[in-house]
Order: sequence, then C-alpha cells, then structure tokens
Amino acid sequence: MSIEQLAETAQAMVAAGKGIIAIDESTTTIAKRFQGVGIENTEENRRAYRELLLTTPKLSDYISGAILFDETLRQSTKDGVPFAKYMADHGIIPGIKVDKGTHALAGCPGEVVTEGLDGLRDRLKEYYKLGARFAKWRAVITIGEDIPSGTCIEANAHALARYAALCQECGLVPMVEPEVLMDGDHNIEVCYEVTEAVLRSLFGALYEQNVLLEGTILKASMVIAGKDCEEQADVDEVAESTVMCLKSTVPAILPGVVFLSGGQTDEQSTAHLNAMNQLGSLPWPLSFSYGRAMQQAALKLWSQDLKGNFAKAQAVVYERAKENGLAALGKWEG
Ligand code: 13P
Repeated sequence: MSIEQLAETAQAMVAAGKGIIAIDESTTTIAKRFQGVGIENTEENRRAYRELLLTTPKLSDYISGAILFDETLRQSTKDGVPFAKYMADHGIIPGIKVDKGTHALAGCPGEVVTEGLDGLRDRLKEYYKLGARFAKWRAVITIGEDIPSGTCIEANAHALARYAALCQECGLVPMVEPEVLMDGDHNIEVCYEVTEAVLRSLFGALYEQNVLLEGTILKASMVIAGKDCEEQADVDEVAESTVMCLKSTVPAILPGVVFLSGGQTDEQSTAHLNAMNQLGSLPWPLSFSYGRAMQQAALKLWSQDLKGNFAKAQAVVYERAKENGLAALGKWEG
C-alpha cells in the first residue's frame, strides 16, 4: 500500500463539509444503549439498527465514512448486500474499530490501557479483505486526583502508535483516538493541560514508530470542563481552547482532525464544532466522528416503533449529519 493511497483515503474522510458516523459500539456498549430505550439486544436488532443508520437516504451528502464493530462488518442488509459493499456503492468509506477495549493498567490504580495488539496484523489483513479502509483505536485517559499519570499517558500513546504502524502496513488509515474523559469535576484549564500532554506524547510515539502522518487521522476529545464542574465554559471558550491546544500539539501535515462527542448533548457538540470552524483559517479540516451525538435522537424515535418509525428515524440521522456537516464548515445556524 502506498502512502499516496493512504493519504487519499484520509483526505476523503475529512472532505469539506463531511464527517464520520461512529456506530462501532461493542456488543456490551450497544446493550446499554438499547436498554436505555427498551430494545432487546439481539443480533437481529443490532443488524436492523445498523441497517437503518447505514442506509439512510443521501447519507453521503454529509457523511464520508462510518466506523463499524467487527460483527457489523460481517453482516448484510435485509436484502443480503454486505454492509461494506452497500457503503462503498453509496460513497461511504467503511471503517472498523480494532481495539479490544480498556483494561486496568497494572501499577496505576484508577487508570486503564487499551488492549488488542496481539494478533492485530492478521485481523487487519482480514478487515482489509472485508472492505475496511480505515481503523479506529480508542485510548481512554481519566482525569482525577493525581491522575492521569505519565505512565498511563505513555503506555496508551505507545499502543496507539504500534496499532497505527500496523494499520498503515496493511493499507488502512489509522484513526488514532486518545479520549480524555469528561467524567469528573475538573475545570477546562485542567482538561487543556491533560489534553496537551496526551497529544504531545501521542505525536512523539507516532514519530518513534515511523507512522506517516499524511495517512493518519486524529480523533480528539474537545477541551471542555468535566461534567460535574460547576464552572462550565461557554461555547466560544471551548472552541478557542480546543483549537489552541491542537495548534500547539498537532503537526500541520496531518490531513484532518475529527472529534468524538463524549457525552455532550447533540446541540453542544454541533455548536462547539461550528464555533471552531468560525475561528479563521486552520492547518487542518476540523470535522466530526460522533457516536451518541449522531445517533441518540434517531435511536429513541426508532425504539418507539421499530417498523413504523424506520424512515422517520433515518430522517433524523440525515438531519444530524446535515447539521454537523454544516458545522464542519462553520456554517451551522442553530
Ligand atoms: P461518542 O461520540 O459517543 O463519544 O462516540 C465516539 C466514539 O467513537 C468513541 O470511541
């Protein structure tokens, strides 16, 4: 795989006015989402729900790619078309979550490290054959008393860089995701310091592992106060802090940065992205790779009548894609 092909895929993922829909919830995570709206967590319900999302009419107007879970990449529409083929035929780049989730980090109480490097090369080769062209790995950094530790930041950055190098070898664009959680009562300044340290460590590790940044996408968390912090920053402060933090840590050669929504409301996630894109010219496109902020309204509607609300829920998905696509251009009007 040439770097030109990786760079082409990476650029298509962050094409102007488009972003990614993250629908890569593991079976345990989707169980929680389904439970929240009273849907039974069966394989067929998971398949039907992912079909609803992926077959939303004209989704590619605002969506460049979708991140799937292993099970979904092996599933098909009710008419028997493999999801990866359906996506490729409809202008949506298939992506795949390849990490195996977080585990307690030995020696670092309260902190986690993401696992999944063992056997990853073979899994990536198979995912490529199944049609995936980019792959996501999520590291989780928790802010709390005396954490994150340098050990946790470095262990996660090292794993992200090892996975990214393997992805590029196998022809997939790595979407590296070091998520700084919104859990906690820390203020926005603390989030800034932690995010800055995490991104510095990540780009150092990517360099050490010979990862080509031209063929890499960063999936970042925004610089924002913890959920339980009494002093919530306004939209402009979140946008300015996030952009400043990225400018001081992320090399300009990176094709693009996309954000996770991380527990923000739909409106917050769109407003923050929009405000960032109104800050003037930036070194990279800033777009979205939202999970909950793309899906939660549609899931709720669908859960009320799985058959009857299928098309209505798709219209909601399209609307959220449109709002976020406009925000990626700084043209969302609220
Ligand atoms: P949220 O937007 O719901 O945070 O999910 C994005 C994601 O892919 C987390 O890994």
